Amino acid sequence: MESQSYFKALIIILIALIGSTQAQLQLGFYAKSCPKAEKIILKYVVEHIRNAPSLAAALIRMHFHDCFVNGCDGSVLVNSTQGNQAEKDSPPNLTLRGFGFIDTIKSVVEAECPGVVSCADILALTARDSVHSIGGPYWNVPTGRRDGVISKAEEALLSLPAPFHNLTTLLTLFGNVGLDVNDLVLLSGAQTIGVSHCSSIATRLYNFTGKGDTDPTLDNEYAKNLKTFKCKNINDNTTLIEMDPGSRNTFDLGYFKQVVKRRGLFQSDAALLESSTTRAIIARQLQSTQGFFAEFAKSMEKMGRINVKTGTEGEIRKQCARVNS
Ligand code: HEM
Repeated sequence: MESQSYFKALIIILIALIGSTQAQLQLGFYAKSCPKAEKIILKYVVEHIRNAPSLAAALIRMHFHDCFVNGCDGSVLVNSTQGNQAEKDSPPNLTLRGFGFIDTIKSVVEAECPGVVSCADILALTARDSVHSIGGPYWNVPTGRRDGVISKAEEALLSLPAPFHNLTTLLTLFGNVGLDVNDLVLLSGAQTIGVSHCSSIATRLYNFTGKGDTDPTLDNEYAKNLKTFKCKNINDNTTLIEMDPGSRNTFDLGYFKQVVKRRGLFQSDAALLESSTTRAIIARQLQSTQGFFAEFAKSMEKMGRINVKTGTEGEIRKQCARVNS
C-alpha cells in the first residue's frame, strides 16, 4: 500500500517536471523581463497608424504569412543573403508591406530592453494593435514566441494559400497548420481591409481557361467594371484595387457581403461559397458585427499559436531582418 502511494507521488512529480520544461505562450510573458514592451509597441502603433491606417491591413497579412510558414517565428521578416533566398522574396510575399514599420518598432523596444523581446512577438502584437486601432476587433496575444533561424522562399510557396486555390486546397493548407474550416472563413474576413494588385486577379479577369475569358463565378457586372475602370489589361502589375470597395480601412462585414454577392476578388474568395458549411459560416457572420469580431478574435489567437518556438528554441533576434550570427 505504502509503495503504491510512493509511486503515485513520484508519477505526479514527474508529470509536473515535464510540464514545467515545456514552455508555453503566456499573457504578459515580458511582465518581468521588459515590463514596458507591450506599452511601447501600442504607443508607437497608435501614434503612427493614425497617419497610415492602410498599414493595419499589411501587418495582419504579414502576421498570417509568418505563421503559415515555419510557425509564428518571425521568419517572414528575414532578408535574403548570398546563399539563401528568404521567405520575403517568395512570390506570395512580394506584395507584403510594412517591414520597415516592424524593424523600427524592434529598434525602439531594443533600446528599452536589448535582446529580450522576439520579432515574432513584436509582429503578433503590432498586427493586433494596428487592427484594433482602426476600430477592428481585439484579440489576446499571449507572448513568449522565439525567433526562427530558418527562412526559405520555397517553403513559403508550398505553405501559403494562393488566390487561385479552390476550397479543397485551402482546407488542406489551413489543416496543415491546425486550422479548420471555421478558421478559414473567419480569417478570410480580414480581407475586409486592404488592397490587392491587379496582377492577383489578371488571369481570373482576362484568361481564366486560357481562352481570353473571365471566371464565370465572378459577378458579371463587377467583372466588367473592374476591367473598364481598374485593371484595364492583363499585364497591369501596379494598379491597386480595394478588396472591400469604399471601406478599405474599416474592419467590418464588407468582405463577406462582397463574397455572397459573388464580388470577392479571388477564386479563393469565391471558393467560400462552394460548400454549405462555408456558406453557413458566412451567413452566421452576416448576422452581427459583434459576433464576427468575437469569433474572429478566437481564430486569430489560434493562428498566433501555430508551431511557435518557446523556451530555449530559436533565438531572440537583435534585428528582425537578420538572424543573429
Ligand atoms: C484563405 C486564403 C487567402 C488567400 C488565397 C489570400 C490571398 C491574398 C492576396 C492574393 C492578396 C492581395 C495581394 C496583392 O496583390 O497585393 C491578399 C491581400 C490581403 N490579405 Fe489575404 N489571402 C488569404 C487569407 C488571408 C488571411 C487569413 C488574412 C489575415 C488573417 C488575410 C489578410 C489579407 C489582407 C489584410 C490583405 C490586404 C493587404 C494589403 O493591403 O497590403 N488574407 N490576400
